[in-house]
Amino acid sequence: MKTLYVENVIKKIGQDVELYGWVDSKRIHKKVVFIDLRDRTGLVQVVGDEKMKTVNSEDVLYVRGVVIKRPENLVNPKLKTGAVEVEVKEFKVLNATKPLPLPVGDDGYKIDEEVRLRYRYLDLRRPRLYKNLALRSKFIDLIRQYLFRQGFLEIETPILSETTPEGARDFIVPSRLQPGNFYALPQSPQQYKQLLMVAGVEKYFQIARCFRDEDPRADRAYGEFTQLDVEMSFVNREDVMALIETMIIEVYEKLGIPIKQTPFPVITYQEAIKKYGADKFDMRTPEEKKKNVQAFAWVVDFPFFEKTEEGGWTFTHNPFSAPKPEHMENLLGKKNIPDILTTQYDLVCNGYEVGGGSIRNHRPEGLQAVFEIMGLSKEEINLKFGHMVEALGFGAPPHGGIAPGIDRLLTCITGEPSLREVIAYPITSGGRTAVMKAPSTVKEDKLKELGISVGGQSEDKKTTFDKLKELLDKKAVDYELSKHPPVFTSVDAAKIRGVELKTGAKAIIMYSDDKPVMIVVAGDKKIDTKKFKEIYGVRDLRMATKEEVKKVTGVEVGAVPPFGNILGISLYMDMSLKENQEINFNAGSHTHSISMKYEDYEKVAKPIIGNFSL
Ligand code: AMO
Repeated sequence: MKTLYVENVIKKIGQDVELYGWVDSKRIHKKVVFIDLRDRTGLVQVVGDEKMKTVNSEDVLYVRGVVIKRPENLVNPKLKTGAVEVEVKEFKVLNATKPLPLPVGDDGYKIDEEVRLRYRYLDLRRPRLYKNLALRSKFIDLIRQYLFRQGFLEIETPILSETTPEGARDFIVPSRLQPGNFYALPQSPQQYKQLLMVAGVEKYFQIARCFRDEDPRADRAYGEFTQLDVEMSFVNREDVMALIETMIIEVYEKLGIPIKQTPFPVITYQEAIKKYGADKFDMRTPEEKKKNVQAFAWVVDFPFFEKTEEGGWTFTHNPFSAPKPEHMENLLGKKNIPDILTTQYDLVCNGYEVGGGSIRNHRPEGLQAVFEIMGLSKEEINLKFGHMVEALGFGAPPHGGIAPGIDRLLTCITGEPSLREVIAYPITSGGRTAVMKAPSTVKEDKLKELGISVGGQSEDKKTTFDKLKELLDKKAVDYELSKHPPVFTSVDAAKIRGVELKTGAKAIIMYSDDKPVMIVVAGDKKIDTKKFKEIYGVRDLRMATKEEVKKVTGVEVGAVPPFGNILGISLYMDMSLKENQEINFNAGSHTHSISMKYEDYEKVAKPIIGNFSL
């Protein structure tokens, strides 16, 4: 086993050491070879003779040598180990590397995210990302230590579950034993943690994975994210807020992260809107931003309900919340609904909502009233939440909880531009998993076993043109549809449309490592397949056959509109199209074309843009 990490070499002056790691860089100076050897703790310079010339960057290396002090003038103050170097007596390349598909020596911000995530295991070699992972691990460790000291139990709750209303779409999983039925992945453990209170657990927490199918943003992970999920019995709002506040102050102090103000300011929703125009806000001065100070605040007294578009009522935060005690009467009487305030508390930090929770309705009639105000019938309540109403009737204690978002807290601490920088394997903004290729198709026999048929849904009865039109109309973009004699090549199409060839978009269906993708290039360009493969780390790229094009797109070759999103496949677009003001393409048939502003196209089609044309 490796016993010595690079950072500790500094303590071994004069001693023989054995080191294992990766070649970060190599410099040759006449007959001497200098290598920066890297492991997770940093770099150290090792110095060898000509035999080491064959070693390459990112090879895995074993080195035995003696640690010597560098002369004063050769000390490298930028390295933790800069005062020493290791004189190599023996070395062995444990695994020579192929050339890497992306550089790992810089901070990586400028590299296309699809490429970074395709090779996430290499991307994570960047010291910046290792540091984020190490910080995340320490952060969770300190949280656990604190909560265990307070007498909390860490309890896992199911992942295969039933839908729970947190306001996003569910991910659903088909059941084999009960074909035609589905599990939902939990949007949070909300209901299970409340049931643990009914069980008498009193103090629960979990580092819980939550699954939500919602549009990604810089502060919102697509697919899954992690909460510190907490629930306690016999508490009021201030108790839960105090527990979390004390925890944060302790954890941040141990990590050496400055907090702007303690105790955290508490502000009502109304005051927040008046003062900041929003219920999440950044209280830091520019100076504090530079120093990455964390500015926490609590927001309380939110309205319980808000109007729906249809004119009914829905909850603003959490249907399981209790109203403030003085508003219970209104809730039970279903009167003065807009005035009912919830016990909800949101934790805000540096402009993000980093947590939220509430005291719950622990009596069944309270929960029942919430759903009734929302317009659910007794039968619907019974069907969806009967188990909760029932459980609360069996001596549920007063209880409340909270769920700070781990990814968001870490994004604030690190000052990273996106949540994905603090997650080991985040899902891409296009909804694909890192490294592996989910979502992917399932073989027919597997689907049969699950009682599922793909393609029978009404969505698939729509023509590709219908789907395109629907999308463009939904996004309210202007476009011009024209009818013309059939065209089969981009040159003919440009002539008939009376536009420049380069403004035409050729949408080509290819199979990229066996998965259909759409690649779009300008009418006057060709796909540089070699370059495409290089950029996106594709091993195998081939044209789809005529039949495959029809199957994937629903239209004939040459009539495919450049919108992968309406077909559920990835869309790659060559940069050259960006240079034009407008974009022209066949709208699903050889006799119809659409012309629209390029800017609108990019907004609606959301292509992955690269430089891969000839
Ligand atoms: P809520 O839905 O407010 O509450 O979520 C709590 C916290 O989780 C984080 N969060 C997210 N982080 C990253 N990506 C996302 N898509 C995402 N969605 C939410 C936020 C948010 O403040 N069951 C309740 C909690 C409770 O009442 O105990 C709940 O889930 O930081």
